[in-house]
Amino acid sequence: MSNIVLQVEDLHTSFFTRAGEVKAVDGVSFFVREGETFGIVGESGCGKSVTGLSILRLLPEPSGQVTKGKIILEGKNLLELSKKTMRAYRGKMISMILQDPMTSLNPVYTIGDQISESVRLHQDLPENMVEGEVISALRLLRIPDPEVRTREYPFQLSGGMRQRVVGAIAMSCRPRLLIADEPTTALDATIQAQYLALFEDIQVKTNVAIIFITHDFGVISRICDRVGVMYAGKILETAPTRDIFKAPKHPYTAALISSVPQLDKKDEKLFSIEGQPPSLLHLPPGCRFQPRCTVAMDICKEQEPPEVKLDENHSVSCWRVK
Ligand SMILES: Nc1ncnc2c1ncn2[C@@H]1O[C@H](COP(=O)(O)OP(=O)(O)O)[C@@H](O)[C@H]1O
Ligand SMILES: [Mg+2]
Repeated sequence: MSNIVLQVEDLHTSFFTRAGEVKAVDGVSFFVREGETFGIVGESGCGKSVTGLSILRLLPEPSGQVTKGKIILEGKNLLELSKKTMRAYRGKMISMILQDPMTSLNPVYTIGDQISESVRLHQDLPENMVEGEVISALRLLRIPDPEVRTREYPFQLSGGMRQRVVGAIAMSCRPRLLIADEPTTALDATIQAQYLALFEDIQVKTNVAIIFITHDFGVISRICDRVGVMYAGKILETAPTRDIFKAPKHPYTAALISSVPQLDKKDEKLFSIEGQPPSLLHLPPGCRFQPRCTVAMDICKEQEPPEVKLDENHSVSCWRVK
């Protein structure tokens, strides 16, 4: 088994708003190994991005706060680091790719300037080696004609190419952990498939641990080794991707999977989950999925289900699973 790079233990993150405490992340635990991709999947608003921002310690302050838990990266609890040390960790140890490349790229600098700035900031290299690093970062993301691209500006590139440049910047510091938050959502299907293939490539070459955040179980099936299914601030089921597709144990997981379009079943009507996720200010009693669950029992409305470990890699929080 490879080393564990990141271990998140019982993470709680809240936003303190005028309307009250919004428990965006409400007791989340998971780990990611070297060379492994862990997916976090769930509907919009369930706390995926806030989980990523908590790890990076980039929550909007002062309203957003980690109130409990540990985030251990290679043996160090990130929550105990000074702001200065944390800044050094971001970029050197942890990188992030966000959904919209235009918010990550600066329109007035060339691609080469932006990647070399990141290289200089995060790697202690003599100046005459910086350009070589820039080119190899572009090559890692399979950007054609890297020598030409370095002189271009973001607006000269297609959306897919821009997102590759963002990936090149993220990887240019050789991080141990990469958090990709819906990096393909803004791309069309073909470009998305190419981009996902790149992640495998990057991982083979660098052994980076990846957290891949998405609302799309189809994406999970393509690139994640294991997955955590998140709902209203909690992970309801964690399992290897293969196992969860074969036999999902939580009714929410099953519903999400049956709403993924399948190539061989084109005409079938897609399943969609009735109702909306609950407000994080007013969670329902018992299981948080219970109001939308088609197989809920009395106990589901009364008590929160404990997490049950089905085997070493598969755990689920549902009263139907014993
Ligand atoms: N800046 C904020 N202030 C207050 N609440 C927030 C803020 N950002 C996020 N939230 C709350 O946290 C929840 C989770 O958000 P987020 O992690 O962005 O969801 P997603 O799973 O779509 O990435 C949202 O439903 C929202 O209620
Ligand atoms: Mg998000």
